[in-house]
Amino acid sequence: MPLLRAQREAAASALPPEVLDYYDAGAGDEVTRREGALAWASYRLRPRVLRDVGAVSTATTLLGQQLAHPVGIAPMAFHALATEAGELATAAAAGRNGGLLGLSTRSSRSLEEVAAAAAEHGAPWWFQVYVMKDRSLTEALVRRAVAAGAGALVLTGDTPYVGRKRRVTGTRLSVPDDHFLVNLAPHFGERVAAGAAALSVAEQRAAAEQDPTIDLSTIRWLAEVSGLPVLVKGVLRGDDAVACLQAGAAGVVVSNHGGRQLDRSVPSALALPEVASAVREHVRQAGPLPSGHAPVVLVDGGVRTGTDVLTALALGADGVLVGRPVLWALAAGGAEAAQACVAEVVSDLAHVMALAGAASIAEVTPDLVHQVVPTV
Ligand code: FNR
Repeated sequence: MPLLRAQREAAASALPPEVLDYYDAGAGDEVTRREGALAWASYRLRPRVLRDVGAVSTATTLLGQQLAHPVGIAPMAFHALATEAGELATAAAAGRNGGLLGLSTRSSRSLEEVAAAAAEHGAPWWFQVYVMKDRSLTEALVRRAVAAGAGALVLTGDTPYVGRKRRVTGTRLSVPDDHFLVNLAPHFGERVAAGAAALSVAEQRAAAEQDPTIDLSTIRWLAEVSGLPVLVKGVLRGDDAVACLQAGAAGVVVSNHGGRQLDRSVPSALALPEVASAVREHVRQAGPLPSGHAPVVLVDGGVRTGTDVLTALALGADGVLVGRPVLWALAAGGAEAAQACVAEVVSDLAHVMALAGAASIAEVTPDLVHQVVPTV
């Protein structure tokens, strides 16, 4: 049985049903969640023959950060629901594979602890930002992420409100307070020490909810607070991508949140060509970022195989993020299994690059992708 499927089955046996449901669920009727993976298979490849592929390199660079491969781990909430070490295990997995870690605002281990694990294992990490209703909490968290060594911020733009996941309304998971508030509790404590009234846990959780009033100006605010590149996650349209770049973003993540936000959103695989070409056109007109780097286009949603990654790169992505399979692997076997999960996708990528006649990421060019076959 393929490794990722075996890990999914092991997770299904290991996890309480409400946690498995929380991980698996999509919003609404889950049309977008289901189509996420299928859409990658709607492309066909045009392999080249008789290219020397005796040595294939998956090495790449994102915003000046050298990586062994372009397969990052998507920022996801509450890894400690899958394995006790939580995001510490995920950081170890990312680092041992030489890849990028996306760390969620909703991590279940404190960002400093995760940063230490990431440093120990050599994992570069980008901090995903939910701008919270209490803006000063967000600012404090971002400053901590900068101090702890985040390489970039990823502002999630598709979650003004959390998508309604109909299938979990019956057995809804209640995330423990010590997971939900692990990154925030110190700030509430500081406020009380400075003379403010103590907030109840319910009030603390309310302050930490997503702020639905954020807009394009939030990009520049985060860039100024942090001094870091800011990517916007959840972009599915070329005009939005350009608007984000014009507002100061260093890149975008083409994503529908794994189908967990607006159901019947276009699959990322189908949105990617429009976004990538709009970004390319913007760079042609406006030039590179002030840092000199090219803006980054990442994509996530249903990326499960090396062929999915090859397709994404050929369609104009600089890298991909893998979500749920990493959570399933953590549940199946902690850091080791999560490492094996990402390694499997990377090894598959190297293999299909060779079969397609591409010995390096630079050789994964748009002409490798042929037509769209309507599978979704
Ligand atoms: C997510 N995702 C997510 N995104 C984000 O920006 N911040 C977050 O805290 C979370 N949390 C989260 C929890 C769980 C359980 C899942 C499954 C997903 C979305 C994630 O970053 C990514 O966009 C998708 O998971 C990618 O799709 P696949 O690979 O899961 O199909």
